[in-house]
Amino acid sequence: MSTSPLSWSDEGYARVFERVQERAGLLPPSCVPAAEEGIARAMARAHASNFTAYLERLTLDAAALDDLITELTIGETYFFRTHEHFDFLSQRVLPELRQFRPPDRILRVWSAGCASGEEPYSLAVLLMEEGFGDRMEVLATDISRTALARAQQAQYGLWSFRGLRAERMRPFLRQEGSRYVLTPEVRQHVHFDYLNLALDTWPSPGSGIHGLDIIFCRNVLIYFTRPTIEAVARRLHASLAEHGFLITGPSDPSLIGLAPLEPVLTEWGVAYRRLPDPPPRALPPPRPRSYSTLPVAPALPLAALPVPPPSPAIPALPPPRPAPPAPALPIRPAPAAASASTLSAGLEPARQALVRGDWREAAQLAGAQQDSPESSVMAIRALANVDVEAAVKACAEAASRHPMTVELRYLEALLLLGLGRLGEAERAARQALYLEPSLAVAHLTLGHVLRRLGDISGAVRSFRTAEALCATLPPETPVPLAEGERAGRLAELARSEQRRLESTETREEN
Ligand SMILES: C[S@@+](CC[C@H](N)C(=O)[O-])C[C@H]1O[C@@H](n2cnc3c(N)ncnc32)[C@H](O)[C@@H]1O
Repeated sequence: MSTSPLSWSDEGYARVFERVQERAGLLPPSCVPAAEEGIARAMARAHASNFTAYLERLTLDAAALDDLITELTIGETYFFRTHEHFDFLSQRVLPELRQFRPPDRILRVWSAGCASGEEPYSLAVLLMEEGFGDRMEVLATDISRTALARAQQAQYGLWSFRGLRAERMRPFLRQEGSRYVLTPEVRQHVHFDYLNLALDTWPSPGSGIHGLDIIFCRNVLIYFTRPTIEAVARRLHASLAEHGFLITGPSDPSLIGLAPLEPVLTEWGVAYRRLPDPPPRALPPPRPRSYSTLPVAPALPLAALPVPPPSPAIPALPPPRPAPPAPALPIRPAPAAASASTLSAGLEPARQALVRGDWREAAQLAGAQQDSPESSVMAIRALANVDVEAAVKACAEAASRHPMTVELRYLEALLLLGLGRLGEAERAARQALYLEPSLAVAHLTLGHVLRRLGDISGAVRSFRTAEALCATLPPETPVPLAEGERAGRLAELARSEQRRLESTETREEN
């Protein structure tokens, strides 16, 4: 198998990558220098002094091969990532499964490619909220043993809580210094295991991968070659129980036509459902065509479907709830600040890498472009996912080169807030507001900073201003710099934050 026409700086890298491709079905890297760096790091950890020795080691030592695969894939994830998928479970999948399953049946869920565990733990919390606490099991697998070890530790930094709905984890977190530890109540439901999706070792009753009700296989298929995608699609279908649902990631390839799965059209894209097997010798029953169900065979005009923004905007803050010993959950430097149409053509590859979650590559590609506010913003957003401190530094440098770019100040405030550098975060948020006094998201961020600094009345004022600014827009209008988040939803968040603070003040006064 050849990985060319890539231009590797040494044929040895190409040979190593071919080995990975055979084992894990990975696509050739879109950024060869980044892949070479990854291979070099893994070689150094394996103490291999040349490519021949390293290839030999990869043949004999499965752990060394896993370590290399971990370098060449990206473990990016966070709690309740792409929250539309979780809403879909509550609104469509669980009601349907309740209808088709006996009430005492254990609900079986699989997070395939679970990275450091945020996805399966989010699934466990959702199912607990939905009343399945005593009849559910969540299986979570990945090829990266490093990621699996982190998942089992169940300790997370604030960065894992940057999604809009991460607030739902709050009741199940215990703070230990700057880390947040998941309570056993959630952990007990999730079982982690090693699995290479590219190999034909599943489904199998022994591993628990069979007869599943829900599969999340999100942001993994993007790494695979076409033959691997086709084989994985067939195995995912075979792993589902009748009426079971499969959810893939927003940038994953379509599985339509690759397995007898029924595509289910939703407002955020396509989910898949395993149809009941037809009764023997009977004609196939007419397929339900009601709500958003599409025929299997003809290809969908997928390009016309809305692709949801990769992640939300603003600190997801809560339905009023007592006791907030939890994180501020505040950051959201997610990709795609600018739409493709507003970006200069040179930045398009970086934008695509950002949307895929290929942070290192996006940072490199954007950084290699001519210096401009938009290339700086993109590089910083990407960097924020791999090295927050470096992103803060880059942000400050870019802001001094582009002092009138409000987004740079705003990003700096968000990143500093995530690092708990509250004084500096306040300064950056105020600078953003000096440049753009009507920037609602900066008022929200300032509100969070002031709340954590203990300036409750200042925080309430900021949330009130954010709410008032959002209220001037029609509820469905996207708010500037809010990652596609709508004015109505942000106004609601700002309002609930005010209420929470006001009730805290009242409790303290009493
Ligand atoms: C971007 S993360 C996705 C995490 C999570 N599903 C989400 O969407 O938030 C991709 C994960 O896929 C895993 N992966 C890549 N190739 C794999 C393979 N052949 N088998 C199993 N997991 C794989 C990587 O180790 C990484 O943890």
